[in-house]
Amino acid sequence: MTQYRVGFIGVGRPWRSEGATGFGMAYEHAAGYAKTGRCELMACADIVEDNARAFAEKNGVAKTYTDYEKMLADEELDIVSVCTWPHLHAPMTLAAAQSGVKAIHCEKPMAMNWGEAREMARVCDERGVKLTFNHQRRFLQPFQLAKKMARDGTIGELQRIEGNCGDMYDWGTHWLDMFFFYNNETPAEWVLGQIDSRRERKAFGVPLESQGLCQFRFQNGVGALLETGQGTPPDGVAHRLIGTDGLIEVRWDQPCLRVLSAGEKGWRVIDQPDHLHGPDAVARAIADVVDALAAGRESMLSAHNALRATEVIFATYESSRRRGRVDLPMTIDDNAFLSMLETGDIRRVATA
Ligand SMILES: NC(=O)c1ccc[n+]([C@@H]2O[C@H](COP(=O)([O-])OP(=O)(O)OC[C@H]3O[C@@H](n4cnc5c(N)ncnc54)[C@H](O)[C@@H]3O)[C@@H](O)[C@H]2O)c1
Repeated sequence: MTQYRVGFIGVGRPWRSEGATGFGMAYEHAAGYAKTGRCELMACADIVEDNARAFAEKNGVAKTYTDYEKMLADEELDIVSVCTWPHLHAPMTLAAAQSGVKAIHCEKPMAMNWGEAREMARVCDERGVKLTFNHQRRFLQPFQLAKKMARDGTIGELQRIEGNCGDMYDWGTHWLDMFFFYNNETPAEWVLGQIDSRRERKAFGVPLESQGLCQFRFQNGVGALLETGQGTPPDGVAHRLIGTDGLIEVRWDQPCLRVLSAGEKGWRVIDQPDHLHGPDAVARAIADVVDALAAGRESMLSAHNALRATEVIFATYESSRRRGRVDLPMTIDDNAFLSMLETGDIRRVATA
């Protein structure tokens, strides 16, 4: 069986451990590659040398670097995991693609703006590099079973998808990715959005809205609504899939899934072992990335799929800037939210 040479950029420290600056997602990636039995963990790069050393020791990685470009030049890697904060995803992915790797698995969100996200996908396509993003929830049962029931007639014909989460960008990228997953990757047609940004908020260095609304329509007529931040309903529902003859709820409380369908008396709870966070989702995601590379097929986590959710995020910001609906495909390149913060068109006005 082919053995792939794997490298990591930005390794962090495990979540809540001493010196952690985040979740240390590279540790989960490493466990996933090791589990496939098809990968050799060759090298890792982190500007904090101690982080690289600790990661290498824990995961049996052969060599450490503080300069990721040197690692890319020296190691003849097949697969690179990019696990840095979002402002570094695009430059690092482009450098890895240009170094000749076969596959890049990058953490979410894709990039800082729509232009960067498209460029990453374009350059990787041009060079035949399989670019994927870690929207690992696609491999968890509550979401997979909800999709199955949305498609097999359990709730009639799917008409609408609703959801809520903390923000449009850092968390919303997962939720919007699930919306496209449920609706068979059908592209969106238009987006109408609004954001309020009175509270100073950031995730992984990137400013977030304090509250947001994103209404959009898929090309097959299914409607969607995502609410974010303050004001989202505290009723335990993460996603609601509404059909002509029923309703599916993906919920935070175990067992996370219930369905109301015509002809049945009340809610039917679907027993399944996974939670909305895991436990094993990243390993399953990496298994798919490696298998897709070996089989020459597209992974469920492909950049092509990730771009659909990413476009809706940036279109929501753009809709707020335009005070109007944004018809897709979107032609602007920037992140309208960041641009409005820079020009002062959006101001952090209060702490409430
Ligand atoms: N998929 C998920 O569910 C999930 C969960 C949490 C975080 N994330 C995403 O993962 C990404 C990384 O988050 P994290 O919590 O693992 O971060 P982290 O802070 O734990 O680790 C980032 C590492 O990158 C290193 N770094 C910074 N600049 C670098 C450079 N120029 N070269 C090499 N290394 C550099 C830092 O020193 C640090 O060790 C983010 O985009 C975040 O949104 C995804």
